[in-house]
Amino acid sequence: MGLSIGCTILFSVLSGLSVYLTIPLLDTLFLEKEKPGTSSIVESSSDIAPGWITETITNIKETFENYVLSGTVSEVLFKICLLILITFFLKNVFGYLQAYFLAFVEQGVIKDLRNKAYRHLHLLPMSYFKNERTGNLISRITNDVNVVQQSVAAVFLNLIREPLTIIVFLGIALSISVKLTLFSFVVLPFSLGIIAYIGKILRKQSTILQEKMADITSVLQETISGVKIVKAFGMEAYENKKFENETTNYFRLVLRIVRIKNIASPVTEFLSVVVGVIMVYYGGQLVLEDQSLKASEFLGFLFAIFQLMPPIKELSSVNNRIQESSAAADRIFQIIDTAPVIEDLPDAKPIKDFKDKIEFKNVSFHYEDSDELVLNDVSFSANKGKIIAIVGSSGAGKSTLIDLIPRFYDPTDGMILIDGNDIKTLKLDNLRSLLGIVTQETVLFNDTIKNNIAYGQTDIPLDEIIVAAKAANAHNFITEFPRGYNTIIGERGAKLSGGQRQRISIARALFVNPPIMIFDEATSALDNESEVLVQEAIERLMKDRTTLVIAHRLSTIRNADKIIVLDKGKIVQEGKHAELVADERGIYKKLYELQFRDN
Ligand SMILES: Nc1ncnc2c1ncn2[C@@H]1O[C@H](COP(=O)(O)OP(=O)(O)OP(=O)(O)O)[C@@H](O)[C@H]1O
Ligand SMILES: [Mg+2]
Repeated sequence: MGLSIGCTILFSVLSGLSVYLTIPLLDTLFLEKEKPGTSSIVESSSDIAPGWITETITNIKETFENYVLSGTVSEVLFKICLLILITFFLKNVFGYLQAYFLAFVEQGVIKDLRNKAYRHLHLLPMSYFKNERTGNLISRITNDVNVVQQSVAAVFLNLIREPLTIIVFLGIALSISVKLTLFSFVVLPFSLGIIAYIGKILRKQSTILQEKMADITSVLQETISGVKIVKAFGMEAYENKKFENETTNYFRLVLRIVRIKNIASPVTEFLSVVVGVIMVYYGGQLVLEDQSLKASEFLGFLFAIFQLMPPIKELSSVNNRIQESSAAADRIFQIIDTAPVIEDLPDAKPIKDFKDKIEFKNVSFHYEDSDELVLNDVSFSANKGKIIAIVGSSGAGKSTLIDLIPRFYDPTDGMILIDGNDIKTLKLDNLRSLLGIVTQETVLFNDTIKNNIAYGQTDIPLDEIIVAAKAANAHNFITEFPRGYNTIIGERGAKLSGGQRQRISIARALFVNPPIMIFDEATSALDNESEVLVQEAIERLMKDRTTLVIAHRLSTIRNADKIIVLDKGKIVQEGKHAELVADERGIYKKLYELQFRDN
């Protein structure tokens, strides 16, 4: 930023100089000799400037006259030409450098903003992601950040470069004729009024525009990830229409914004030209009739005033850009300012290993958006080394129950204890590193099989990965791929079969080798052979560990040390398979007959 400002100052001064040089050039060309003592520069600037400035200007002027304006006319012409050449060369060098340094600052700010928003996303609770559309979040971190970028440069230009350029040329104009300069500023209040008014409207419209962009991204994101269903239901035309509706909305809004935004420049410019024309007439009079102004000075004055136009015009659009950007910035800061609900307490306790038991004590839970209890006064304990199976009909609250252990959500009532510590008082990453989690839907990343199994850990020897893969019954199918463990599995593991995906996600959980395993058994029907392979993998997964498993398979249930039967968020039965099945009127018996018997 400092370098950019330095270059900007040099750039502005050199721009001023390059315009100023036209005066002696014109004088030389038209063979006008300046009479000593009639220099209007010193005269008019002495009206407004303090003494030392007048002195400095006189000194510079004298040096300039002694070195450049001495010798024959063609020598002077040559020296002025050379000076103009050098001035323009340096001006452009500094112009280039200031643009580069400015881009450096601008892109750096954008990078940091993106990183900050992204890092913050990871601190937000699960509920946040269920309430926001994915496309909307993506759009904020991509599109909205881009819009903010515009204003980083705009603020810089607004605050530093343009005012500086204005000061330089204004100084030149004033030094030539104070009267003419003041006259040319009549236009200012009008254009400022217009600029402020337009800025206000734009900010509102820009918020809507960014929301529309987010809608487009959302539709895009949803249909691309659901492409199979779109094709299967033949809904291409329907989705096209939906998408086109969004793009049309966006198009209309952009045009409206363009209409508003672009009114500022022409109005300002027209007003300026009105003043300019009057000024040319008035100044012309001063030169021709009064002869109080030299023609070369009047031309120099006009050059300076015309150089003032672009920065003033720029300033009129800078406000627009800032308004648009702050609308976008609001949307990004909505993410950054969302407080993480689930985070470490200031005095969070570390926990390194699991010794005794997990305990649910009168746990109740409802999701944010409804008051209906999904879990109602649930109490049970899971001792170290045991397998606890959770069964119940669909929607009973099983997945919700186990989501509370890694604190994806916090209980609304009651508490969960690990070795006697309320999990809310433990360090979150300590807690999660005790848990291996296999979710109901397998989530894999678009990377190699190797990296999916050793998720997040680099430089792991292949041997260790193979051990996990073998235990998950995945090694055989992996080695059948031409690229083996280096096979890239596509987004969400799309290039694998359902059973293969499950076994990779089991291998991933096994690889971490955590003391507690939380396992939401997938209900997806597999053929007999994969079923057996997956089942074997699950059994190995549970060996020598404490396991909480949501069970859909009879063999899993038979292995369990304790079965918890959940119905509408309440524990209705608890015990071993043999005992529960014996209760003729229990829910377990029905579930057993309907769900478990055949597989
Ligand atoms: N994010 C959410 N917001 C609001 N309600 C939810 C949310 N997730 C689940 N629910 C509701 O909570 C209840 C329990 O859901 P849960 O996923 O725990 O059931 P489940 O027992 O795992 O069922 P299944 O066997 O079908 O997986 C359901 O009625 C569901 O509608
Ligand atoms: Mg579930």
